[in-house]
Amino acid sequence: MIKSLRGMNDILSEDYERFTYFIDTATKIAQRYGYHFIETPLLEETLLFKRSVGESSDIVGKEMYQFIDKGENDVCLRPEGTAGVVRAFIQKKLDKAGGVHRFFYHGPMFRYERPQKGRLREFHQFGVESFGVDSVYEDATVIMMLADILKCLGIDYKLQLNSLGDKNCMPQYRESLVSFLDSHEDEICQDCKRRKTTNPIRVLDCKNENCQTLYLDAPKLLNNLCRSCEDDFEALKKILQNNDIVYEIDTNLVRGLDYYSKTAFEFVSNDIGSQSAIAGGGRYDRLVEYLDGRPTPAVGFAMGIQRLMELIVMPEETRKGYYIGAMDAGAVDLVVNLAQHKRKTDKVSVEYKAKNLQKHLKSADKANAKFCCIIGSDELKDETIWIKNLENKTENKIDIKDF
Ligand code: HAM
Repeated sequence: MIKSLRGMNDILSEDYERFTYFIDTATKIAQRYGYHFIETPLLEETLLFKRSVGESSDIVGKEMYQFIDKGENDVCLRPEGTAGVVRAFIQKKLDKAGGVHRFFYHGPMFRYERPQKGRLREFHQFGVESFGVDSVYEDATVIMMLADILKCLGIDYKLQLNSLGDKNCMPQYRESLVSFLDSHEDEICQDCKRRKTTNPIRVLDCKNENCQTLYLDAPKLLNNLCRSCEDDFEALKKILQNNDIVYEIDTNLVRGLDYYSKTAFEFVSNDIGSQSAIAGGGRYDRLVEYLDGRPTPAVGFAMGIQRLMELIVMPEETRKGYYIGAMDAGAVDLVVNLAQHKRKTDKVSVEYKAKNLQKHLKSADKANAKFCCIIGSDELKDETIWIKNLENKTENKIDIKDF
């Protein structure tokens, strides 16, 4: 038997209900905030991710589904959504047009990670990207939008917040961190030795316990911000407080992608095991420029749909639409005609086989229909249809022409 690849799952039945309920809810809220849908290809030039997510990141270094296509192009399945949206933004010359552009998207992403609960090789994200606003109010607004989506889905979360500084303060911080790492060269793990030369701040989220203890004494990002980054971070905290968004500061939150500056955040859940990050994002003011566009401030986030699915509190399901069946084989044609007629306005399930009433009622219940509508030989004769309301259990017979 051929099975799906490891870390790649089908979505169907009850999962699919949750999946579409999530997309519908998040879409409605993103549109309320003025975001427009964007779809970008699943396959992009590998260089796009090397230049945006960063060569030193685990994603580009180890996790890309990368191959040479039949035209000798070096391509890969997208590991995340931001890079493609930025590419599209520049390709459509929206950077040159100026103004504010806000997009949302959802779809599959691919990372060749070691699969475990909550960690897949194909997973789905819902994300938003806002271009053209450098105000910290926009950072706060995307965080509040994310909080709104989670609230609407009945999901509890913890928000972790940090500032990564900008081109004025980050290089200086990096230098002091590197000299700290140099002075502890013998104590840090192999991964951190490598990170020290590729992207030193990534050492801060090293999972090695010895490193973590050591980094308690490392210089802190937040103590090294320049005036403007510090003012923005203070303002962000105040806006969130004023809007009842609870957060904790995590000075070691550096995110796994290289394009961030200033605001970085993660939403985590205590209810889904070790892969607890349900969403993450931040500001990335330099990425448009890195990808050869006109410098444009930007901020966004992405949510991991599979991780959220088990947390969603689904609304109570109500019975909907009609179930139509025949008790007499001679009435099946009529049943099919009536079903087609009703489907113009309602959800209809139809049974093609003649069955007895008890069996029909059982099937109607399984289909979660509100009305079970049956034509037997009597009804066929006097051109009526028997209807039972499965909610309030009332029954009646009406003329077929009134159905
Ligand atoms: P990210 O933190 O890499 O950010 O991914 C966002 C979310 O996708 C995570 O919080 C997690 O819920 C989910 N996720 C990531 N990897 C997996 C996996 N292997 N299996 C299941 N779920 C996963 C980004 O992708 C950025 N593009 C977010 C962003 C948008 N920043 C600015 N704009």
